Amino acid sequence: MQDYGPETYGDRIAELYDSLYERELDTDAAVDGLARLAGSGPVLELAIGTGRLAIPLAQRGIDIRGIDASEEMVARLRAKPGGEDIPVTMGDFADVGVEGSFSLVFVVFNTLFALLTQEDQLRCFRNVAAHLADGGRFVVEAFVPDLARFERGQRVGVSAVSIDRVDLEVSRHDAVNQRVDSQHVFVSGEGTRLSPVSLRYAFPSELDLMARLAGLELQERCGGWSGEPFTNASRDHVSIYGSDRTRP
Ligand SMILES: C[S@@+](CC[C@H](N)C(=O)[O-])C[C@H]1O[C@@H](n2cnc3c(N)ncnc32)[C@H](O)[C@@H]1O
Repeated sequence: MQDYGPETYGDRIAELYDSLYERELDTDAAVDGLARLAGSGPVLELAIGTGRLAIPLAQRGIDIRGIDASEEMVARLRAKPGGEDIPVTMGDFADVGVEGSFSLVFVVFNTLFALLTQEDQLRCFRNVAAHLADGGRFVVEAFVPDLARFERGQRVGVSAVSIDRVDLEVSRHDAVNQRVDSQHVFVSGEGTRLSPVSLRYAFPSELDLMARLAGLELQERCGGWSGEPFTNASRDHVSIYGSDRTRP
């Protein structure tokens, strides 16, 4: 998608983001899982967004900061109770452009795939590895790619239907570049609203290889935040990486 940048997704979805995903995502289980992994901190969230996870983690006394590219998303974080107190660096999270070392760095809800090339994803792994304290972990939550969703390189799906609104998802798939360019289309009496999102997906095996190239290794992989086993039927994974020197 031409003119699509790191800030585009967030800037266009910010107003709807919390209400769209609050029912779909198991935020409480994610917060519990991340809090268990946080150790003594500090913790860094790549793509902190509206603070869906960072705010409850901070409320548990965890020293957390974040990076994001979207002023609109971060404005929503700032407007929430406690949101002003969480340090946020504006920028591309592939750079991990912050000072210090962290006991936990995490990127969740498929957002590693917002980096649109293999090179940027690998760069992110390398920069995270350079920011991990001894014993530190990098946690990635992402979907397992399901290419059967696409027919002839495209897909139209219906996400929600209500009495006065329909939410559609319209996508094109580029298998060579592992790219999916989508629009969320919200149609209501007030008109049509578009929310673009581009992803470069990767299978867990490719993420593990990027981690190894960055000097990290897979320590644990679950099928979700409640420790579900990761199996051939898993649609998502929570993967925990650390380095040899940091193996607990
Ligand atoms: C799906 S939201 C996730 C927000 C939050 N982590 C959560 O779980 O609710 C994706 C976030 O990634 C941010 N983002 C996307 N690409 C980015 C990039 N290259 N650098 C920094 N932030 C980025 C967006 O602005 C948005 O806030």
